[in-house]
Amino acid sequence: MNYSQCWLNYNPIDNYEDRDMLSDIGICIATNQISTIIENAVSELSYALKRMLNINCNKEYMTEDDQYEELKSGIILRLNTKDKSGYNNEGYSIKHIDKTVRIEAETESGILYGCFDLIRRIAQGELIRGIDIMEKPKNNIRILNHWDNMDGSIERGYSGKSFFFKNDELIINERTRDYARLISSVGINATVINNVNVHGAASDLITDRYLDKLRIMADIFAGYNIRLFLSANFAAPIEIGGLTVSDPLDKDVIDWWKKCVKNIYDKIPNFGGFLIKADSEGRPGPFTYGRTHADGANMLARALKPYGGLLIWRCFVYNCQQDWRDYKTDRARAAYDNFIGLDGKFDDNVILQIKNGPMDFQVREPVSTLFGGLKKTNMILEVQAAQEYTGQQRDVCYLIPMWKEILEFETYSKHGGSRVADIVSGRTYNQINCGLAAVSNTGNDYNWTGHDLVASNLYGFGRLSWDTELSSEEIAREWAVQTFPHNGKVIKAVLDILMKSWPVYEKYTSPLGIGWMINPHNHYGPNVDGYEYDRWGTYHRADRYGLGVDRTVKSGTGYIGQYNEPNASMYENKESCPEELLLFFHYIRYDYRLKNGKTLIQHIYDTHFEGVEDVEEMIKSWESLQGLIPDDIYERVRKRFDIQYRNANEWRDVVNTYFYRKSGINDEKGRKIY
Ligand code: GCU
Repeated sequence: MNYSQCWLNYNPIDNYEDRDMLSDIGICIATNQISTIIENAVSELSYALKRMLNINCNKEYMTEDDQYEELKSGIILRLNTKDKSGYNNEGYSIKHIDKTVRIEAETESGILYGCFDLIRRIAQGELIRGIDIMEKPKNNIRILNHWDNMDGSIERGYSGKSFFFKNDELIINERTRDYARLISSVGINATVINNVNVHGAASDLITDRYLDKLRIMADIFAGYNIRLFLSANFAAPIEIGGLTVSDPLDKDVIDWWKKCVKNIYDKIPNFGGFLIKADSEGRPGPFTYGRTHADGANMLARALKPYGGLLIWRCFVYNCQQDWRDYKTDRARAAYDNFIGLDGKFDDNVILQIKNGPMDFQVREPVSTLFGGLKKTNMILEVQAAQEYTGQQRDVCYLIPMWKEILEFETYSKHGGSRVADIVSGRTYNQINCGLAAVSNTGNDYNWTGHDLVASNLYGFGRLSWDTELSSEEIAREWAVQTFPHNGKVIKAVLDILMKSWPVYEKYTSPLGIGWMINPHNHYGPNVDGYEYDRWGTYHRADRYGLGVDRTVKSGTGYIGQYNEPNASMYENKESCPEELLLFFHYIRYDYRLKNGKTLIQHIYDTHFEGVEDVEEMIKSWESLQGLIPDDIYERVRKRFDIQYRNANEWRDVVNTYFYRKSGINDEKGRKIY
């Protein structure tokens, strides 16, 4: 096989005390038809037990409910459609009763997730005796967005080429199934396989040219409870339909989409729906016709509605032709300004997909104001597992702690608890079509993610989207234990590296929430003024006295006014503004004293020196694992660390030198600045 199994390695576990309890699998379902999902669940379970515990399971299929009571030992999978025990669709329970372990669910997908859960527990060495749990996902939609192009390239892809497309054709092979296993094992239940920027042959994906093959793919995914979605081109009626407009209120356009969608569902009955990037970075959209985003989204949603399809509409809409001399226009304001007035105007199968921050996946950003603003609209939180601005999977950057902070942010949208996690799960406003999306970090590299350690971000996204209350450490530990041989030293070192990695990356790159300072276009490597005099609305405004963007209501762009109280006041005042976001919200002088007594400029110098030292520590930790983990993984990661070390040095020297030259202020510690 030319790819690894990541966390589905199923490494052998010695002396597992509950081994005897797991020797048979009894499958008890109410119908005679064994579905693909059940088949897949059973085969995963028996494969995992064989590899981890060397158990050859006997499998017994029973259709009568009472027969299963006679099973005296083993794992019993029971589809319980009669007694609705509140598993809630994808939920399940696992109970130890006498000598049996019973996984029960109302649906087949619940059984599948229950099996993956049991496997995960065993893989971690957890004993099964006494288990009595009930689980259900906190979010209904747990979706990956692949930015794969049909020529096989991946926009912002850092782990090889696409494993979905090559030369304008779909690829379907063993890896398709293993991809489905991998993401299903962590609870992901939907995927968009093509780039949000739909160009070239990708516009045709929704036509007969590709639908038969897509159906095969969709069925493989469905066997793992994953729904296939496609990014579609808003101008498709023109580009592939022969119409002259794509006006969402035009009758011919409406009819064209209805026919197109009917045709898709005729071929792919389990199709999930569309993801749309419109009026954004040059993509077509309803603005061309003087229509709103609600007009555009609802038109498509109505075509999908009869088939249960969903329409996911992105809020990444801003003016990318800004004049850098203009201090009042603020890209951070854009998503809110464009969408807040439309709250309540979207159909119930429309979901707005909102990036975590108001800018674009920087190493540190405040939470997007839309989460606390919209009250009558379904929302999905979009994060980016692909490390576009966080080291591009050459530098290790475990992003779960960042996503946790975002999820835990209290928006004060509603009295009594409205963290982002509550809002995007639909709990706050009783919504169903809500959840989490991640821009995927996968490609056809052997290890799927380029850097072995950042498979933890893919794993972690899935686990977090299922249960937003899991901690970053728990997730990191789970991933490490399933990925590496069972050895306390290995797990400790890997955990330590992962947990440090985001703060370390932040230290040696851009300070206190200001972001950018990166090479334009490829978004890799330091370039402090890279975006400063450009049209993208991404500035740091550094001069000889200080830096930062004034986004206050009092004297700045007014962005802060989009937050609910008391967040708005907290950000408005320099003193109460969380320091890690100080430069995002305020222009600050170099001699301003931070809470620890250091001046801003000294903070910049210190963190950049520290960042490089931290990378040295991480490398030492990794080197201490030589011989304890497989050589190929050791070597691959070792090489990535060499690159990271060079990167960190470059960032330190470029950023420190830049601010030294701007400010003329010496480093108190007299270290080398160029
Ligand atoms: C970023 C990224 C683009 C991408 C865009 C998006 O700006 O650099 O490549 O298309 O986000 O999210 O649509």
